Amino acid sequence: MPTVNMSERDKTQEEAKVLPEHVGFIMDGNGRWAKRRGMPREYGHKFGAQTFEDVMDYCCHKGIRAMTFYVFSTENWKRPKKEVDAILHLLDSYLDTCRKRLAQNDVRFVFIGDRSVFSDKLRDKMDAIEAESAHKGYTVYLALNYGGRSEIVHAVNALLEQGRTHVTEEDINACVYTAGSPEPDLIVRTGGDLRISNFLLWQSAYAELYFTDVLWPDFKGKDVDAALDSFAQRKRRFGGV
Ligand code: FPP
Repeated sequence: MPTVNMSERDKTQEEAKVLPEHVGFIMDGNGRWAKRRGMPREYGHKFGAQTFEDVMDYCCHKGIRAMTFYVFSTENWKRPKKEVDAILHLLDSYLDTCRKRLAQNDVRFVFIGDRSVFSDKLRDKMDAIEAESAHKGYTVYLALNYGGRSEIVHAVNALLEQGRTHVTEEDINACVYTAGSPEPDLIVRTGGDLRISNFLLWQSAYAELYFTDVLWPDFKGKDVDAALDSFAQRKRRFGGV
C-alpha cells in the first residue's frame, strides 16, 4: 500500500473539499473557431464534438461525479438547416461511438430536453445508451433540444398531471431532468459571452459562474484546471454571511 505523508494527505483532502460535484458546460465558440480558419461552421462543431469527449474524460479523471453539456438548445433550430443537420449528424455518429465504448468507462449517460422532436432512430439510440449505462458511477447529462424554461414548465406540468394543485421547490427539484444529482456547483461558458442562455435555470440558482474567452474547440485540460482553480477560491455563502 503506498504511504502518504501528512501534508500530502491534507492537500488531497483540501482538493477534494473544493472539487465541484457537478459542472455544467456551455460549449460556445465552435463557429468562430472554424471561421478563423476559413472553414465552414460545421467544421468547428466537428472539433467541438472531439473537445466534448476530451473534457468529459478529463473531468472523470479529476473525480467530478456529474457533468452537463449543452449540446443543442431549443433555440438552436433557428440556425441554417445545413448547420442543424451537421450537428444532428455528429450527434448520431457520436451515439454509435458512445454505445460501443460503454463497456470501457464508468459513465451513465442521460439525455435531457424534449427528445420527441428527434427521429425514431436517434431516440432509440438514446434509450439504449441510457438503459445500458444506468448502473454506472459518473453521470453525464447531454442537453439536446433543451431549454431551462421549458424544463421548468415540463416539471410543473408533470406535477399537475399527478393531480397537484400546489407545488413546492422540493417538488420541482424532484421533477427537473437532473433530479437525483446534486445541483451544478460550477457553470463554465467558453467563447467570451457573459450569459447563461437558458441553461439549467432552475438548478443554477447558487452555481458559481466561470467565463473564458477560449473558444470551445481550443478548451483543454489546462483550461478545465483554470476553471476548477477559480472555483476553489470562491467563497460560497448560499445567501448567508
Ligand atoms: C455553440 O457554438 C455550439 C453549439 C450550438 C453546438 C455544440 C455542439 C457541439 C460541441 C458538437 C456536438 C457534440 C456532440 C456531443 C455530438 P457556436 O456555433 O454558437 O459558436 P459561435 O458563437 O462561435 O458561433
